[in-house]
Amino acid sequence: MSLGPEALAQSRKILVAVIDANAEHRQQVARALTSFYQVADFPLFDHAMEQLAHSHPCAILLDEMAASRSGGDPVRTIRRLMPGVPVIRTLNRSIPHGGDAAQGADACLEKPFRRSSLIRVISGLVNKAVEARWDTLAPQYRDSLKRTVDSFNSISDLIDRGEPLVYRDVNAACAPLVDAVSNHDFKVILDNVKGHDNYSYVHSLRVATLLSLFGHTIGLKGEDMSLLASGGLVHDIGKMKIPHEVLNKPGRLDDDELKVMRSHVPKSVDYLKLCETLPKGVITIAEQHHEKLDGTGYPNGLKGTQLNELARMAAIVDIFSALTDRRVYKEPMAPEDALALMSDRMASDIDQKLLTLFKGMLLDAVSGQAG
Ligand SMILES: [Fe+2]
Ligand SMILES: [Fe+2]
Repeated sequence: MSLGPEALAQSRKILVAVIDANAEHRQQVARALTSFYQVADFPLFDHAMEQLAHSHPCAILLDEMAASRSGGDPVRTIRRLMPGVPVIRTLNRSIPHGGDAAQGADACLEKPFRRSSLIRVISGLVNKAVEARWDTLAPQYRDSLKRTVDSFNSISDLIDRGEPLVYRDVNAACAPLVDAVSNHDFKVILDNVKGHDNYSYVHSLRVATLLSLFGHTIGLKGEDMSLLASGGLVHDIGKMKIPHEVLNKPGRLDDDELKVMRSHVPKSVDYLKLCETLPKGVITIAEQHHEKLDGTGYPNGLKGTQLNELARMAAIVDIFSALTDRRVYKEPMAPEDALALMSDRMASDIDQKLLTLFKGMLLDAVSGQAG
């Protein structure tokens, strides 16, 4: 597949470039990465450099046979033209013990490689590069991002081991975020989380930020703000138990897949309840963020007054975030289009009074550029 310069520029955060003279291999990689990344593939090194010069991809897969016409070292050329972009060497032979098989690249993979290894290597390097950039941000932004991503990762380890979440830790990790939101100073956080490769984390952090901002707008303070930020960060935690193929499937889910996807709500609740000190509000956010006012939501089909204010706020923020999130198979919807859709087409699903407040909040806080 070849993308024009504009498409390349738009997709840089999810674009992986493959440079390999072997057409079959390029196609295999493109197939393996569908649903995770867009792929731009190039048979010739110099052509790839020309095309990618103005729109750096998030990672480059470079075959060991790829060579520059000038005879220069290809990895060094990439480093010079695209500093900070991770390079993965693909080898047509066994990785030798000792020696520098990566030849200056960040990682190497021996062909044929497993799809899971490929995704793991790319994802690890992309995250490392994005998180390294966070170090250059002012402390309030850096801490908001680094501490929440660490907390999110450690929760995934706890879930794997069946151990309860430690609310005190999640709460502490969200403290810089709550401060930033309370000072209306969070736009940089939303901008800098965009390039991160863990979609679940990106979505959860966006929900945490917007939910606590919503709370701030309606006058909540202190503990209530921490509860909203923590609740946002863990609201979809059960998705960590949903298979990758369902979670990242481009396009429509069939009935069985939909059932699996929807089970993330009871999975979240079951897991969160293991933590005895967790405030009830955090569980309400996880349990009711897919409920709708007209009773057509899930998992319990709650209606009207059965949904308290917290659940109504969580539903609005979750829908808005999902619509404006970037996924590999869809462009993010513009915030104003998402809000219009929510008031026109979801009039009976969501609390329109709260939605009006939410809209005003976005206009005030981010001049119509939330997310
Ligand atoms: Fe959800
Ligand atoms: Fe969500």
